[in-house]
Amino acid sequence: MSDVGTLALVRFEYTDKSGWKVRPGLITGEYLNDYQVTFITKEVNKYSHEDTSVIIDNDDLSAGRLKKKSIVRTHKTFWIEKAQCKRIGTLKTEVTDKILRLNEEYFVRNYYNFAHKQNQPFIPGKSRVPYAGRVYDEKEMINLVDSALDFWLTTGKYAERFERDFADFLGVKYSFLVNSGSSANLLAFMSLTSPLLEDRRIKRGDEVITVAAGFPTTVAPIIQYGAVPVFVDVDLETANVDVTLLEHALSNKTKAVMLAHTLGNPFDIEAVSQFCQKHNLWLIEDNCDALGSTYTPSQLSAFSFEPSAYIRE
Ligand SMILES: Cc1ncc(COP(=O)(O)O)c(C=O)c1O
Repeated sequence: MSDVGTLALVRFEYTDKSGWKVRPGLITGEYLNDYQVTFITKEVNKYSHEDTSVIIDNDDLSAGRLKKKSIVRTHKTFWIEKAQCKRIGTLKTEVTDKILRLNEEYFVRNYYNFAHKQNQPFIPGKSRVPYAGRVYDEKEMINLVDSALDFWLTTGKYAERFERDFADFLGVKYSFLVNSGSSANLLAFMSLTSPLLEDRRIKRGDEVITVAAGFPTTVAPIIQYGAVPVFVDVDLETANVDVTLLEHALSNKTKAVMLAHTLGNPFDIEAVSQFCQKHNLWLIEDNCDALGSTYTPSQLSAFSFEPSAYIRE
């Protein structure tokens, strides 16, 4: 059984070996003959401003007693032989959990600063400007580790919060999180093949207008289902759909238009929406490269958070 979560009195020898002092601590790790101990002090007011600190009192203990309300300074840890520690109590599991996670946060933040933080200043004309990339800081890494510690494996608390916050951000009623933008495209498309939509349902053999120079997984769901993609060209300036070609691509089998916005630049949504409304077609927006671009919202949109996907600030 793990001793993590045990409160102990820890005996230290002075460096000059002239004597000993005894301090309270919380065991937050163990390895072979050593414990990792985190400092506890009664100087609550002095340290409560530290965001790595947790105040504990007797309600937080499942065994033993504290003489006074105390504070665990989770970043102040040291390793010491087990023989120097005398058990005096145990913290409740949920309090130990909170402290261990703060401990983890502290290490992850340091790791981020050491290994990931970009310290180079941006020099116009010299620094490389990537067309896309990961944008993150220690907060993302801390949440990532926190989620791994839950080890929930399927959608959990972060997914639920993300769906809620993302729908609020977009000003829509619902958002559903899936594993990728490609899956979001597939789901958006497949939802329109539901028999519940009756006449407007997309059936196998129906046609869906899209662009010839587009992203593969904008088109893949159409083919996967057995509908027929009808390709129109893009405008060479914007690499977005040439809206003058839409009418030309229409037939009595056309049920939808499915298009991606190119590299952060929205296609002409007004023209495409008008075309869809005029002919009673669904519009599926592949928004994987256009989160943050503003235009009239469509009926269904798919987003991606993969590193090459665009997010506009
Ligand atoms: C326009 C477009 N659609 C779909 C995707 C697929 O997103 P994911 O890589 O998350 O599957 C991308 C990804 O780059 C994209 O740019």
